[in-house]
Amino acid sequence: MRNSPNVSTTTDDVRAKHLRIKVPTPWLVRFQHLITDGGRVLDMAAGGGRHGRSLLDRAGEVVFIDRDTQALDDLRDHPTATVIEADLESELSPFATNGVLAGECYDAVIVVNYLYRSLLDDIVDALNPGGVLIYETFARGNEAFARPRNPDHLLKSGELLSAVTGRMQVVAYEHGKVEATDIPGVKQRLCAVKDLENSGRDDGDPPVHPLTG
Ligand SMILES: C[S@@+](CC[C@H](N)C(=O)[O-])C[C@H]1O[C@@H](n2cnc3c(N)ncnc32)[C@H](O)[C@@H]1O
Repeated sequence: MRNSPNVSTTTDDVRAKHLRIKVPTPWLVRFQHLITDGGRVLDMAAGGGRHGRSLLDRAGEVVFIDRDTQALDDLRDHPTATVIEADLESELSPFATNGVLAGECYDAVIVVNYLYRSLLDDIVDALNPGGVLIYETFARGNEAFARPRNPDHLLKSGELLSAVTGRMQVVAYEHGKVEATDIPGVKQRLCAVKDLENSGRDDGDPPVHPLTG
């Protein structure tokens, strides 16, 4: 496996564990119906791309970004996949002018088991009107029994809610211990739609979305 020079063994272990999982998280499966058919999807810190891959058939384009794209090499010639190898935590935000994702917008952004909190605002900015954010990663409390334990990689209580408050409609949010899953731990999950401005209602409330597909 190719690595950046300062990637720790611990991080490698966590990544390897994730690469062995081929199916998408049930959180994406549950809310994927909210993603526009033919839309543009960003799978951030994609790893082996299990989430973006599950949407390739119905998305117009899926952009996979990770600092290690070896597990995505088979997608390089795929007509609707774009693979970008980049450090999401470099001094220049990937979304900033001259960043690798500068000026790009998406109908859905999927982030699973990855956190670099400085990017949260940029992620919301990068969503098109009506775009969907599907986020799931480890949260505070996880350190008591499993990796990741670094607080920089663990969401605080309500942190994903705060990231979208006033900017997106929250369709679903959870925070708690999940045991019956491939990688057990304390997780926080959010599904939100950027449609607070799209009201067709007299009271100004945003559109209602089906909770199941
Ligand atoms: C735990 S894995 C999760 C992979 C995938 N999202 C999944 O759920 O299967 C975390 C991923 O984040 C990537 N990653 C970690 N730090 C990164 C950085 N600074 N820039 C880009 N990718 C990074 C790793 O290479 C790894 O593929």
